[in-house]
Amino acid sequence: MGEVTISGAKNAALGVLPAALLIGEVCTIENVPDILDITRMKNIMASLGVVFQTVGHDTLRVDTSGVSTFHATGDEMHRLRASYYLMGALLGRFHEAVITFPGGCDFGNRPIDQHFKGFEALGATVVIDHGCIHLKAEHLVGAPVYLDVVSVGATINIMLAAVRAEGLTTIENAAKEPHIVDIANFLNALGADIKGAGTDIIKVRGVRAMNGGVVHSIIPDQIEAGTFMVAAAATRGNVMVKNVIPKHMESLTAKLLEINVQVEERDDCIHIRPGNGPFMKANIKTLPYPGFPTDLQPPVAVLLMLAAGVSTITEGIYDNRFKYMEELRHMGAEVQVNGRTAMIEGGRPLSGCTIKALDLRAGAACVLAGLVAEGETEILNVQYIDRGYENLVEKLTALGADIRRETRTFCEDSND
Ligand code: UD1
Repeated sequence: MGEVTISGAKNAALGVLPAALLIGEVCTIENVPDILDITRMKNIMASLGVVFQTVGHDTLRVDTSGVSTFHATGDEMHRLRASYYLMGALLGRFHEAVITFPGGCDFGNRPIDQHFKGFEALGATVVIDHGCIHLKAEHLVGAPVYLDVVSVGATINIMLAAVRAEGLTTIENAAKEPHIVDIANFLNALGADIKGAGTDIIKVRGVRAMNGGVVHSIIPDQIEAGTFMVAAAATRGNVMVKNVIPKHMESLTAKLLEINVQVEERDDCIHIRPGNGPFMKANIKTLPYPGFPTDLQPPVAVLLMLAAGVSTITEGIYDNRFKYMEELRHMGAEVQVNGRTAMIEGGRPLSGCTIKALDLRAGAACVLAGLVAEGETEILNVQYIDRGYENLVEKLTALGADIRRETRTFCEDSND
């Protein structure tokens, strides 16, 4: 049996680090993944005056006492989706923030109007000028905010600003993703008063003072865990996926069982083994948590390509998240995409060729396709994969995969 240990959650760490800006003191964050998105967030925060000290391989001491600017307008801002958390964190601390528009993977239109709606409800003005967002509030005052769409980013951003507002903010129709709970737990340890994180109504009572000296450990990465569970399933492997929270994986576990993969949950690990007989087709719709995560849609598509019959995937979050299917077609995949639905005619062999990672999770799907395809697959643009997977090549090699990295070049110009 192979074993793989899952790293800390990218999307939790990308919220926890900016949250530390609210205190102007020192705190310690454990289980921080060593990935490109975190490097970028650290570079952005360092440019504001934050001092990071690495303690051991995955622990960061974060000192935000020297921050005196609310301008986050460097080049790296538009290379990172989560740079938008600088809005809530700086607004909360300084009542003012100037940030460059965030970047992120290209899945079609990705507005941030719900973030603005929340900040405005708390009393901030939002002015967009020359590609920068300028937020300012004489007084931040708690208010009810109803999100028109369930947005992870807006939920976290409004929480960040609301912890330093006067009075009560109620976020209704809030997102419930595990990392929202992790970030709320961190903020509460710093002295915030947040109740209801993980449900669709979050109540934040503003506090005057917050404290440092906190040690917080980031939760395991739900999406990295899911990627390895699918990789193990697709290769008919016998793999123990360690350092996971099985409850976070339930939507995937249910689908793997349906596809005829054996999944056994333990306290903090999940054992994947092949089922008896072939893979079964399945229909999957991505939804906000606790639904099936959109970020696992590309990897699981590769598994469905191995199941005879027609499987469907309906993308419930983004307008345009099937572009990577074109790459997999080069490997022999039979897929028809119609709007937000992909019909996969599985059971045909995939064959290796040169393909491109178009974004982070599409890149993971390319790797999985390479693992199950006949012959050799070459994947270009792997800098996208570096954004969110720590030591992917090393972890897969330890599980017995024949995979190597040819060069280590980053395409710093890519707008991912
Ligand atoms: C976060 C994750 C991303 C994941 C996504 C959905 C981070 C850094 N990224 O992205 O990996 O794929 O959640 O689980 O944590 N929307 C609006 N207006 C807004 C905000 C969002 O219309 O103001 C729409 C989006 O276009 C999208 C949907 O709401 O269709 C969900 O977006 P959201 O949950 O905000 O995703 P992100 O925070 O960008």
